[in-house]
Amino acid sequence: CGIVGYIGTQAATEILLAGLEKLEYRGYDSAGIATVWEGETHCVRAKGKLHNLRSKLEQIEIPAQIGIGHTRWATHGKPEEYNAHPHMDTAKRIAVVQNGIVENYRELRENLKQKGHLFVSDTDTEVIPHLIAEFLKNSSSSSDFLDAVRQAVNHLEGAFAIAVISADYPDELIVVRQQAPLVIGFGQGEFFCASDTPAIVAHTRAVLPLENGEIARLTPLGVEIYNFAGDRLKKQPRLLNFTSTMVEKQGFKHFMLKEIHEQPGVVRANLEAYFRNDVNPGESPINLGLPTELYNDLEQIHILACGTSWHAALIGKYLIEQLAGISTQVHYASEYRYAPPPLTANTLIIGVTQSGETADTLAALAMEKERRQGKEPKYQARLLGITNRPESSLGHMVPHIISTLAGIEIGVAATKTFVAQLMAFYALALDLADRRQTVAPEKIAEIINSLRQIPKEIEATLESQERLTEQLAHEFAETQDFIFLGRGINFPIALEGALKLKEISYIHAEGYPAGEMKHGPIALLDAKVPVVAIAVPGTVYEKVISNAQEAKARDSRLIGVTPVNDGEAAEIFNDLLPVSHVDELLSPILAVVPLQLLAYHIAARRGLDVDQPRNLAKSVTVE
Ligand code: G6P
Repeated sequence: CGIVGYIGTQAATEILLAGLEKLEYRGYDSAGIATVWEGETHCVRAKGKLHNLRSKLEQIEIPAQIGIGHTRWATHGKPEEYNAHPHMDTAKRIAVVQNGIVENYRELRENLKQKGHLFVSDTDTEVIPHLIAEFLKNSSSSSDFLDAVRQAVNHLEGAFAIAVISADYPDELIVVRQQAPLVIGFGQGEFFCASDTPAIVAHTRAVLPLENGEIARLTPLGVEIYNFAGDRLKKQPRLLNFTSTMVEKQGFKHFMLKEIHEQPGVVRANLEAYFRNDVNPGESPINLGLPTELYNDLEQIHILACGTSWHAALIGKYLIEQLAGISTQVHYASEYRYAPPPLTANTLIIGVTQSGETADTLAALAMEKERRQGKEPKYQARLLGITNRPESSLGHMVPHIISTLAGIEIGVAATKTFVAQLMAFYALALDLADRRQTVAPEKIAEIINSLRQIPKEIEATLESQERLTEQLAHEFAETQDFIFLGRGINFPIALEGALKLKEISYIHAEGYPAGEMKHGPIALLDAKVPVVAIAVPGTVYEKVISNAQEAKARDSRLIGVTPVNDGEAAEIFNDLLPVSHVDELLSPILAVVPLQLLAYHIAARRGLDVDQPRNLAKSVTVE
C-alpha cells in the first residue's frame, strides 16, 4: 500500500497522482484520491492500475490545494472500488487513507453503527473517518480536528499509518504513525506526507520520518508534531541522501533489469564498507562496527526473516555454522512470533529485512525484545538487524544494524538487495570466525580477497548471460512448471531461483535440495517439466550432477548453472547457464544472477508487469 498527501499552493491532484506513481512499485490493486475544494470533500477511486484513476480524474478537474492519495493492496475485503481508499464518514466530510490494520475494527464498527453511522465497505479503515466524526460532533475549539483525530487514534488497536482531511478544516492535513511508516516532506510553503520517500523526493529532500505514537498537523504555514497524549514535540527535518534520478529506469526496460545490472556496484559498495584495505598487525580485516557484547560467548543464533530475505538468511546460516561454528537456525518471522524457542541468554537474534518494514519480521522482533526486558543487559544487546533502510522501523527497534548499501530497490522482486544481504552475511560470518579464531587469519584474508573478485565475475556473468537467458526464455514462455535443484550452500539459491520465477512470471516453480528430489518431486517430472540445477565444483558437485541425471532419465529438459568449460557438465545438461569457477563458499552470489535473468526474461517474454507483479507488495506492512 502507499500513502501520499499534499497541502500548499499548487494543484494537489497531479502531485498526488505523480506521488502514487512513485509508490506503484510497492504493489496495489486499487487507488484513490480525496481533495477539499469549495467546502466539499471530493473523493475519486478506481479499481486496478493508476491510469484508471487518472482517466476518471481527467473528467472532473478540481483545482484543490490539499489532498490525500492511496494505493491499496487488498487485506480486508476484495480489491473493488468500494473498498478502495480514501474512506469517508456518513456525511462525506472527512476522508482517510490508511496503511496497516486496525485490529479492533469489528467492535468499533458495531458501536458506531448503533450510533447511526452508515458503512459501505468491507474494510477496517472505514471505522476511522466515522470515529473522527463522532469525536467532532460536540466540540468547538480551533484544535478540534487534530484533537478528534487524536482521540480516534487512541481507540484504535493495531499497526497503522493514517492521513486525514476534512471539508470543515480546509487548511489542515493530519497524519499519524503507529508502527507503519510515514514521512513528512518540507517544501517552501507546501508540505507533503508519504508512506515512503520516493513519493516526495521530486519535491523536497528535507524530510522528517514520524516515530510510532506521533501525530502531526500540516498546514500551509508549517508542521506541528504531538504525541498521542497531545503534548507538542520539537523535531527537525533532515536531508535525504538520494535524489529523484535514483528512482528512474535509466534506459532499462524495467527496474528489475536495471537492478540486476547494478549488482556489481552494490557488491563493491559493500566490500568497501565491510572490509579494511590495509590492515595493521592485530587489526581485524572486517569492519562492521559491532560491539563485543553482541558476540561474547555466543552459543546460538536465530535469524528471522520473510521471502527473499529468508533465503539470504539460509545462506547466512551456512556461512556462520561452517566458518564460525555457531549453531544457527533460520525462522520464518510469521511462525517465530507465535511459537518462539525458549529464551536463552547467549543467543543472538538477527532480523533480516531489506525494507525494514515487513510487519511479520518487526512483530517477531518486538516479541523477542519484550520477552528480554528486565533480564540482564546482555539479553537486550543481542539483537541485530540487517537492512537496506537503516532509517526504517527496524532501525528504530534494534540496538545494532548492518546496512546493506544496495540503494533504493523499486522492482517488487528483490535482486540487488538479496546480493547485498549475502555480503552482510559474509562479513558477519567472517567477523565471528575471526573473533572466535575458528578460521586462520590467512584463510580469512584469502576469502576476502576472493570476495573482491566477485564484482568482476558478476559483470562477466551478466555480459555472457543476458543474451543466453533471453534466448532460452523464448522456449519457456508456455511452460507451466519448473523445478530448481541445489545442494549445500546453493540449496537456498534453488529456492530463490524458484521464487523469482513464481513471483514475476506466475509459473509454478519449486526449489528443492537436489538429494530430496527422489523422495517426491521426481513423480512430477516428464518432458514438460524443465529442471534447473545449480552444479558448482565443491563438496556436493558430483552429487548434484547425479541428481540431475536422475531428472534427465525422466525426460526432463536439464538446464545447468555450472562453471564455464566444464566438459562433464556440458554433456549432461541440455542447456548451460555458465558462471565463473569460484570458491564454493562464494558461488551463491554468482549462481543467483542467471536465475534472476531467466525469471526476468521469461516474465518479460510473457508480456507481464515485471516490476509490479499481481498480488505482491514490495514491503508487506500487514500481518
Ligand atoms: C515481500 C516482497 C519480497 C520480499 C519480502 C520480505 O513479500 O515482495 O520481495 O522478499 O516481502 O521483505 P523484506 O523487506 O522484509 O526483506
